[in-house]
Amino acid sequence: MGIMKNKLSFTVIDNNSRQVIETYVGEYRNLMLLLKDKMYLEYFGECGGMGRCATCVIKIKGLSGNSINKERNEPVTLSKMGHKDENIRLSCQLLVTKDLNGTVIEITEL
Ligand code: FES
Repeated sequence: MGIMKNKLSFTVIDNNSRQVIETYVGEYRNLMLLLKDKMYLEYFGECGGMGRCATCVIKIKGLSGNSINKERNEPVTLSKMGHKDENIRLSCQLLVTKDLNGTVIEITEL
């Protein structure tokens, strides 16, 4: 039952392909690592999750909970890159939690 409770899924859109990814809370250290692994994204997450390179940028809709708040380097890095859209996030700064359940994540070259 514990496992069922921790299950979550979301939709990922990459180059016009759309798929539902299922995972568990904490299966990956952050969303960047999950996407890199499951979507085979070569140039994704170059700084390894420090919140500095912005190569892990995504557009996410339907996010809930504490994940809505940007912390640490994220707001600084995003504004340096000129991103103003609230739905644009650094995926390395998002933890794999229930907050991601039901979201739609777009991997776009921004
Ligand atoms: S991996 Fe570099 S900012 Fe996210």
